[in-house]
Amino acid sequence: MNDPATIRRLYGRARGHKLRQGQEALLERLLPAVSVPGEGPVTSEALFGDSRPLHFEIGFGSGEHLAYRADLLPDHGFIGAEPFLNGVVGALQHIRDGRLANVRLHMGDALDVLDRVPDGALSFVYLLHPDPWPKARHAKRRMVNSGPLDLIAAKLRPGGEFRLGTDDPTYCRWSMMVMNGRRDFEWLAESANDFLTRPGGWPETRYEAKARRKGHEVWYFRYRRV
Ligand SMILES: C[S@@+](CC[C@H](N)C(=O)[O-])C[C@H]1O[C@@H](n2cnc3c(N)ncnc32)[C@H](O)[C@@H]1O
Repeated sequence: MNDPATIRRLYGRARGHKLRQGQEALLERLLPAVSVPGEGPVTSEALFGDSRPLHFEIGFGSGEHLAYRADLLPDHGFIGAEPFLNGVVGALQHIRDGRLANVRLHMGDALDVLDRVPDGALSFVYLLHPDPWPKARHAKRRMVNSGPLDLIAAKLRPGGEFRLGTDDPTYCRWSMMVMNGRRDFEWLAESANDFLTRPGGWPETRYEAKARRKGHEVWYFRYRRV
């Protein structure tokens, strides 16, 4: 059965426009230095040499949100996973320009790295504008599904936070339905319109700005791991 809740498979494009020479050089020089090691448990100790709180971003796009959060919280550690090469280069540029020493990247499937994080080790997980897969027959490909969510729930510590943003109305409804059915997450909404307002410390990504220019609404969800 083709079900990414049990079968791992990456969809979408792996590269876009050709990299410029400077970007190629950055990729060669900086990516090995900031990559999550290919093997072993993914812990604060292994990545940063101490026991700092860990954050994990799934599909960071060009890395704006990841870099913003890492700059805001320099004593915390950030792991970002993204298979799209041009996005990884974007994140490397942020790491270089912001001199961010607290970010590690994985170019590939986020779930492969999440698997290697010990249970309860994460303080935050971010999933911003996941690919919407709007057709019903592709619903199983959505990141908001029981397989990935079980993994996210296992890796978050009790009291940890899962942040989800989307500009897709189908994904918004789908997420509310799926998340409302879970006992391991509590929606941190304080009022009915809460999810229409960008929470503090949640910057707008380029993707989100583009969505708004197209006239899309954006919904913001914060869930606490119970
Ligand atoms: C619509 S984009 C949003 C990018 C970014 N989060 C933002 O808000 O600007 C969705 C991203 O998720 C990435 N993605 C899809 N499946 C993924 C997976 N299994 N692991 C990590 N990233 C994934 C895609 O490559 C793409 O860059």
